Amino acid sequence: MLTATPHQAAQPSVDFSELRAREFARLDASAQAYLDYTGSALYPERLVTEHAAALRRAVLGNPHSESPASRASTALVHAARDRVLRFFDADPREYTVCFTANTSAAIHLVASAYPFGRDARFILSADDHNSVNGVRAYAERAGARVHYLPLDDELRLHDVASRLAVLRRTHVGAGLVAFPAQSNFSGVQHPLALVERARALGYTVLLDAAAYVPTSALSLNRTPADFVACSFYKMFGYPTGIGALVARRESLSRLRRPWFAGGAVEYVSVQHGSHLARDGADGFEDGTVNFLDMEAVIRGLDFLDEVGMSRIARHVSALTSTLVARLHALTHRDGTPLVRVYGPRDRYDCGGTVAFNLLDERGDAVPYEVVEEHARRAGVSVRGGCFCNPGASERAFGFVPDRTASCIAETRRAGWSLTEFGRRMRECGGAHAIGAVRASLGMASNDRDVERLIEVLLGCKALPY
Ligand SMILES: Cc1ncc(COP(=O)(O)O)c(C=O)c1O
Repeated sequence: MLTATPHQAAQPSVDFSELRAREFARLDASAQAYLDYTGSALYPERLVTEHAAALRRAVLGNPHSESPASRASTALVHAARDRVLRFFDADPREYTVCFTANTSAAIHLVASAYPFGRDARFILSADDHNSVNGVRAYAERAGARVHYLPLDDELRLHDVASRLAVLRRTHVGAGLVAFPAQSNFSGVQHPLALVERARALGYTVLLDAAAYVPTSALSLNRTPADFVACSFYKMFGYPTGIGALVARRESLSRLRRPWFAGGAVEYVSVQHGSHLARDGADGFEDGTVNFLDMEAVIRGLDFLDEVGMSRIARHVSALTSTLVARLHALTHRDGTPLVRVYGPRDRYDCGGTVAFNLLDERGDAVPYEVVEEHARRAGVSVRGGCFCNPGASERAFGFVPDRTASCIAETRRAGWSLTEFGRRMRECGGAHAIGAVRASLGMASNDRDVERLIEVLLGCKALPY
């Protein structure tokens, strides 16, 4: 393996078509265009081969004991923790890593243990994934106020630094601020400088990095968030079922866990009804961590560093610019746009995720399911719907609040169905679209994938749907 370091300034170029032929040959062998990297990355072939070979050699036991097999697993878990910290340029004296099942589980660790209350509010962005929106249930239960930071017309956070300052001045106490480093709806990369601003005002910051870190380098040295959540399958495709909460040691020690489980305690007494949680990350890893896959986490991060995060970012950014330009250039015969792209037109500070709707000749959104269906038949993987990001969807689709409220109420009374909700919203003119199509690019993407998506859209235009 090469030994490139994570945050190199100038890097020689990488031949991404050679990389695709070597590590992702199955795409072309099966004639597939994969454009759902925000859903999941694809694994490089060598990661599964090397991991399988390592497993064949290893004798790994449950890490919670002192046998040779157990110690071998414990050593792997520690090595994986160190590797994750190095990848995120995090000082091990300040940060630690709790392995979880995925990003949602990492966020849940904070949600369930953060001391919300009247003086500790929850402030989140309107661009959050539902796994962050869900934190509000814990905040509300503890009597904490919940504030959403709104999005502007381009789906960027609007005037957020001063809003945080005003909230801080007008309330006693601070609280938890959560926002995504990159939107899983629009691809907008929100300013990481907010992390320091919010911390300087006394807030604790939870950065949802799930959609950002697969194609952008994150340095916790420069962006000193209290908590960062990510899923490894989104970064290098394999294995599924491991994520991490990268946490400042000091912020982790201020959390209060609502329960305990095997592996996370020094002792439990049944006679005396007491227990002692383990210090640091161990106290947050309930049960047995996925020790067999730790080797793959290490190798996956090595692979990303070897290709180079800044090279990946440049490759994805160039292809995304091509995709967005091609989408904007598509028109009906009379010159009206064929596609409405959501988010910033100029695309600065944006990652490789693009949400859009196909428009008919009247300028109305073609249901996303129609595009999905055409894409499926053409072997093109895109995502359709709201992508678990209701705030960005409501803003992008122009949901009218009172009409939305009555459509939600009516649909709930009738027995919830998304199709039914969509029908009601369309009937009452409550939104100009219900769901979009999302294309997201990654290290294995190429120009031909982009062209195949464009062909799908042109095909939808030609066919009656
Ligand atoms: C920004 C963001 N946050 C959180 C999640 C949830 O990730 P997971 O399903 O791996 O828990 C996703 C998944 O798409 C995401 O894009």
